Amino acid sequence: MSTASPAGHHELPAEFLVGASTAAHQIEGGNVNNNWWAFEHRAGATVEHVSGDCADSYHRWVDDLDLVAELGLGAYRFSLEWSRLEPARGEFSRAARDHYGRIIAGAIERGIEPVVTLHHFTDPLWFSRAGGWTADDAVERFFAYVDWVAPILAPVRWIVTINEPNMAAIMARLADRDVQVDDVAGAPLPLPHPGVADALEAAHRAAAQRLRQLVPTAQVGWSIANQAIGAIAGGEAAAERYREHVEDRFVRVGRDDDFVGVQAYTRNVFGPRGMVRDDPVDERTLTGWEYWPGALETALRHTRELVGDVPLLVTENGIATADDDRRIAYTAAALAGMQRAMADGIDVRGYLHWSLLDNYEWGSFTPTFGLVAWDPETFERRPKPSARWLGDLARSRQIAVAD
Ligand code: BGC
Repeated sequence: MSTASPAGHHELPAEFLVGASTAAHQIEGGNVNNNWWAFEHRAGATVEHVSGDCADSYHRWVDDLDLVAELGLGAYRFSLEWSRLEPARGEFSRAARDHYGRIIAGAIERGIEPVVTLHHFTDPLWFSRAGGWTADDAVERFFAYVDWVAPILAPVRWIVTINEPNMAAIMARLADRDVQVDDVAGAPLPLPHPGVADALEAAHRAAAQRLRQLVPTAQVGWSIANQAIGAIAGGEAAAERYREHVEDRFVRVGRDDDFVGVQAYTRNVFGPRGMVRDDPVDERTLTGWEYWPGALETALRHTRELVGDVPLLVTENGIATADDDRRIAYTAAALAGMQRAMADGIDVRGYLHWSLLDNYEWGSFTPTFGLVAWDPETFERRPKPSARWLGDLARSRQIAVAD
């Protein structure tokens, strides 16, 4: 512990990033040319809301970056929207590339470390119509897109190729129930689509190798939805099989990367008949997930077991709640767990909270994950107390370790 730290506190390393995360389709608005927009608007769609204008961040990115800087956060993770950069197959947009180049430059000018994701769940419509990730040339198409954006990535030090390939492959499975996979009985989600999982892994490996040539100063990895999967007596085999297919096979790919992005929110506990809810308090968040800030520590420790010394970056962690005090409590507890993992020698390079803004939670604006709210009519940003709290923590670099 640093001698400068007040009692009960731990000082984060000087280079440690503290910031917030977002994703294009969840904040930009008007992403009319991707598969998610099509899904939201298909006949018989059951989504609660369409993404629409979202937080209008495509136009208000200057306000967003000013806010990140003003809060004192030192890093901002955002994603590039492939469907804007390549609106039709092989047809690339210079204007869209310049746009994202300006955000990267704007972050750096403000002293904010940009963490750039190349793929965060959305595919261009032309890509999904041509068969998506199971098409023969899927990896080649992703590779061409990566080549196109590489020039603006030159000043970027952290690149996430693909966000949560495990969730993306599960979503593909939900969309195509005909694929034969022997699911884990009583599990919260079906197992990933095997063809999509393989293609995403191949796409990541190809992109990472290419980016290491084109942007040699960047650290390249992918980010995995890594929950705390546990078991009570009788649930061990189900938990193990679920964890292997849903998480571990994706995490192990990170052994060959510069870092692994860890994204943890809650826990899944298996019993003899599938998922169990064994917490007597059983507080649920707005996504219906168990309030379980210990997920981050468990995820960091488990990831470390699988990838060894590869550095870890917390690319997402947060809570959907309308009670901002619970957001602060959750985040403080998650950070204390992260600190315990670091004290045990786990190399964690940063913590990026999900999310900077209340955003489009894949079908609904109701589960609010943001440090910052916004007015639905004027889009005016309204930082919550948690935003100030995390900004102060980023400035002081002090994590409270006592409960
Ligand atoms: C995703 C985000 C999502 C968040 C909360 C992660 O699965 O990367 O897009 O909003 O978790 O559900």
